[in-house]
Amino acid sequence: SVFFIAQSLLALAQYDESKVPPYTLPELMVTQAGKKVRTVKEWEAQRRPEILALFAEQVYGKTPTKKLRIHFETVSTDRQALNSLATRKQIRAYFTDDRQHYMDILLYTPNAAQKPVPVFLGLNFSGNQSIHADPGILITKRWVPDWKDPGLINNQATEANRGARARRWPVEEILARGYGLATVYYGDLQPDRADSFDESIHSLFYNKGQTVPSPDEWGAIGTWAWGLSRAMDYLETDQDVDKKRVAVMGHSRLGKAALWAGAQDPRFALVISNDSGEGGAAITRRQYGEQIKRINTSFPHWFAGNYKQYNDRENDLPVDFHELIAIMAPRPVYVASASEDQWSDPKGEYLSLYHAGPVYALYGRSTLTTPIPPEVEVPVGQKTWTGYHMRNGKHDILLYDWDKFMNFADFHFKRK
Ligand code: GCU
Repeated sequence: SVFFIAQSLLALAQYDESKVPPYTLPELMVTQAGKKVRTVKEWEAQRRPEILALFAEQVYGKTPTKKLRIHFETVSTDRQALNSLATRKQIRAYFTDDRQHYMDILLYTPNAAQKPVPVFLGLNFSGNQSIHADPGILITKRWVPDWKDPGLINNQATEANRGARARRWPVEEILARGYGLATVYYGDLQPDRADSFDESIHSLFYNKGQTVPSPDEWGAIGTWAWGLSRAMDYLETDQDVDKKRVAVMGHSRLGKAALWAGAQDPRFALVISNDSGEGGAAITRRQYGEQIKRINTSFPHWFAGNYKQYNDRENDLPVDFHELIAIMAPRPVYVASASEDQWSDPKGEYLSLYHAGPVYALYGRSTLTTPIPPEVEVPVGQKTWTGYHMRNGKHDILLYDWDKFMNFADFHFKRK
């Protein structure tokens, strides 16, 4: 049962800070050829591309360079959605001319705000209908993991699933602060199962005769990140959206996807990771909470095949996750943890952000000033380029988190 699986995962996890092994992080500011990086130019021309390529080849897998001819079709527009608070648009992005592959973008923009507005973009776990009870949202027809939410029956969403995850998506609060919200169901890119490659967008990129990704090609996180960039392609064309102020965000596995999307796609002006943990914001060399072997075993489809080489060999990985954050620079990054979410290693998440600091310093941007994480619910770095907080409580994303994300976005997007 789920209970016993959870128990055995806990039994394997390491939660004792005194047992964190001594480790040396890969040198952020030294090229693979051993040259010290001293200028923005050297960073951008040499070191940044090296790190990006390592994450692609060794961690998430390479995203195909082939461009599909994507056709965006606005399926519905309602200017009086949510008691006239918002305009709701639903856009179907067709990936193929035969219309067999597509994703649905749900976009709310605040009617009261002056256009174009800044937007938060994030993937959701169980279909667009789950984020709000709004009866106008299309219900996904895709396979949905068995989250035990109301209205999820035999892996299909039903009417009763509307708003089941509304707690994680404070839509009215986001609109009231002058932001738009865009979301896509991650299963539109790849259903979150190990045997889902045939049902995913992978097949659109295979070479002749290919049936599975090769070891250096993308896994599911890569397809989810790709979907975020395709949603960005649409947002760039929408008159109500300010394409220079789009923040990409995500919780947990979708926080990993948001970080990978932000790393690859510089159009995202701000990047937010909530409880992304192992394979996301956390320093993997700490071997605290979830570790590489565990994640590759539970979720063999998430990362590149190559990543399995690092099972129980964290120190051999040529990168660590502070470098994933560093390659966002000089764009602002926000990392959020939760005190009871030790599986995601809150301290490791904080340290990644802290150790990305030297690259921000090259750009003259202020960051965190200490390797010691703050107390619970004492946000830090809010008016710098790297913000962080640890919410009190469990692995989740709540209004407390969103409120801090919006404060951070206000500083970067609305500062005069
Ligand atoms: C599991 C997994 C994590 C992931 C999380 C989530 O706990 O081990 O790596 O972040 O699911 O997506 O909620």
